[in-house]
Amino acid sequence: MARPLIADIDLDALRHNYRLACSLAPHSRALAVLKADAYGHGAVACARALADIAPALAVASIEEAVTLREAGITLPVVLLEGIFEAEELDRVADLGLWMAVHSDWQLEALLAYRPARPIPVWIKVDSGMHRLGFTPEAAEAAWRRLRAAPDRACDLHLMSHFATADRVDTGYFRQQMARLEALGERLAAPLCLANSPATLARPEAHGAWNRPGVMLYGSDPLEAGNETSLRLAPVMTLRSAIIAVRDLPAGEPVGYGGRWVASRPSRIGVVAAGYGDGYDRHAVDGTPVLVAGRRATLAGKVSMDMLTVDLTDIPEADVGSEVVLWGRAANGEVLGVDEVARHCDTISYTLLTGVLPRVPRRYHGGHLDQGGSPPR
Ligand SMILES: Cc1ncc(COP(=O)(O)O)c(C=O)c1O
Repeated sequence: MARPLIADIDLDALRHNYRLACSLAPHSRALAVLKADAYGHGAVACARALADIAPALAVASIEEAVTLREAGITLPVVLLEGIFEAEELDRVADLGLWMAVHSDWQLEALLAYRPARPIPVWIKVDSGMHRLGFTPEAAEAAWRRLRAAPDRACDLHLMSHFATADRVDTGYFRQQMARLEALGERLAAPLCLANSPATLARPEAHGAWNRPGVMLYGSDPLEAGNETSLRLAPVMTLRSAIIAVRDLPAGEPVGYGGRWVASRPSRIGVVAAGYGDGYDRHAVDGTPVLVAGRRATLAGKVSMDMLTVDLTDIPEADVGSEVVLWGRAANGEVLGVDEVARHCDTISYTLLTGVLPRVPRRYHGGHLDQGGSPPR
């Protein structure tokens, strides 16, 4: 038998989540954010699954865009960070990409370039995230210069990113919005502002385009979920099995450092999954897993290839029983990746993007046959 750990990717769930994002913002178009290999889900498979419903995609770098183009994806692709060196402009033009411009050197490089066809440009505004982007005043100047160079740049948009759209306290979000609304009105510019939390919970941020990322994969980014975020469906199920079972008397420790100690006679299941697969070593005792579709908890430190769970209250569990680290169990029970992330003192984004290449991806639904062969 092959090692049982697998990442099952449900492309129908991806399509469901994408449609949910669209239904919340009927006057916007939604860029599907597929950077970081579609948050660990496989960018090519996800792009193919969305190709008939998403008008455009977004990635972080030329390399990610090339991967999509080489797989035959012809949809517009936005480079969210633009180019990293001026020489990349040739490939931006050749591949028909759309690019963000966030700094002076990118602006000057573009204005000095002679593309065969003008390049669609999204001017990035720093409205308060203080990561990438022009101040609103500098963005206005960049906008005017690009408008005056229609042979270089076309389809100008303003984009910006929110620092706190996920929070219950909307104070800082509103400050960012006020700056963006003022600039957008001055320039009569189409806006692209909303990430997943703003798509889900801040309709005032819905612009000509939105940029949902993590919600497409079924994770709820909101500090306090809402009615819609509860309808997101998990796309990745990280699934394995029990490979050994131990009966231990009370007082016996389990795993490295003996962190977990049996407080009663206990049955411990050993699961084929560890930090060498990307399962977070920071997971504390008590981190939930599903065993045979029932909740159990991590007992002991995560090892490289294995982890241990307390099966004492699940007597039917045995060698071969299904273990879901996050996602949907065979009986339909769901363990959200967000809940697991909280036990690892992290966010779903790191868990999803952290699943390592040695974990085979198996695709279901979307445009692929059931039973899912990996994308070519
Ligand atoms: C510029 C930009 N837009 C959109 C997104 C998507 O954000 P989320 O995954 O929270 O929807 C990201 C993600 O980090 C981003 O950096």
